[in-house]
Amino acid sequence: PGLSMHAQDGLVMEEVPLSRIAREVGTPTWVYSAGTLRRRYRALKAALDGAGLNASVHYATKANDNQAVLRVLAAEGAGADIVSVGELRATMAAGIAASRTVFSGVGKKAEEIRFALGQGIFQINAESVEEIAMISAIAAEMGVLAPVALRVNPDVDAKTHAKITTGKAENKFGIAFEDAAPLYARMAALPGIRPIGIATHIGSQITEGVAAFHAAYARLAEMIRGFRASGLPVERVDCGGGLGIPYRDEVAPPPEALAGAIKATLGGLGLPVMLEPGRWIAGPAGVLLASIVLQKQGSNRRFLVADAAMNDLIRPAMYEAWHGIVPLDPVRFADDAMPADIVGPVCESGDTFARGRAMPLMAPGDFIAFLDAGAYGAVMSSTYNARPLAAEVLVDGNRFAVVRPRQMPEDLLAHQRLPDWLAP
Ligand code: LLP
Repeated sequence: PGLSMHAQDGLVMEEVPLSRIAREVGTPTWVYSAGTLRRRYRALKAALDGAGLNASVHYATKANDNQAVLRVLAAEGAGADIVSVGELRATMAAGIAASRTVFSGVGKKAEEIRFALGQGIFQINAESVEEIAMISAIAAEMGVLAPVALRVNPDVDAKTHAKITTGKAENKFGIAFEDAAPLYARMAALPGIRPIGIATHIGSQITEGVAAFHAAYARLAEMIRGFRASGLPVERVDCGGGLGIPYRDEVAPPPEALAGAIKATLGGLGLPVMLEPGRWIAGPAGVLLASIVLQKQGSNRRFLVADAAMNDLIRPAMYEAWHGIVPLDPVRFADDAMPADIVGPVCESGDTFARGRAMPLMAPGDFIAFLDAGAYGAVMSSTYNARPLAAEVLVDGNRFAVVRPRQMPEDLLAHQRLPDWLAP
């Protein structure tokens, strides 16, 4: 989506040949398609509207917090889901009002809660009795009512990678299902809290149909009916994120299927619903461009060493994630492909992007693109091995612009200090 192959220009994003960006900006570089961001946001919104839901979309900022990306989504009318004051500052700077933003997270600090309330945050999703007490005390002291939803853990198996499943009883997230009703009643009695409803988020990169969503939302609906029967107010329900995308050959459910699951379970309650998608919107909108440093022959394997590494894109090392990897040059596509391991230069065997991947012969300086890298890519980068953070570029039609310049080696030193007894 947003990408096409051309006989002369090779891989093109919207109307810009990616090799042009790689040449002018250098590598490694993240490139995002504004058009794809817009198209996916609209498709998701249309699916929710089409199901007759009164739904708002709160983009999960953690997936990609680049200002340009946030601006594109802000212009589409997106709200935000944030997990830190840093993310709230980023979304507000990009024009997404705090009044359309939900604050999630299992360990919000008092000063973060204070800041969010001061900005008029739309909703705080609370995950523990301890946190609720803290929010109430801060809000009461500020003379405001904090809009709080309870994040419940529905104990369903989202059938995704263990490191990104969140809705099972053993996970650290949310409030145990059986504890939620008494806690909601107590919450309603606290001075600083306006009880808003309930929220859940069962995991990320969910591709095996929508059964897990359906099961979780059915439990929420049952819980809300119970709240109402006890006379407790419920204003809306937050369905979380998690809709997966095909990185390889997974058959990801379309947004219409998710909207259908929401409609079938929560639709009868007549409440506004919220969604917190990150990956589904941003993932397919981005690529990571890299250059081949060299091709080397191991004792029994061919290695393509790229100038991007696990410090840039950590998903393969961290989750055994599969990303499509393609040469930008169309001539390389024509060559006979042979298996190669595609690795980065970092000093760890885990710095491997792909094993035995069919790749043509490649020469130093040839460009490649890691596909579907718009979500959980740049945001998870580090400077391990003193590797500066890569540049970020936004493509929009036939235009492109650097939206975060490449970090320079001197930037890495700029924020370090020597104690006076070691200073030269
Ligand atoms: N809402 C909450 C409360 C979340 O914790 C998350 C993601 C989302 C929404 C957005 O989920 P999405 O629609 O993007 O699946 N770094 C991992 C993914 C971690 C997801 C964490 N929470 C990866 O690269 O696969």
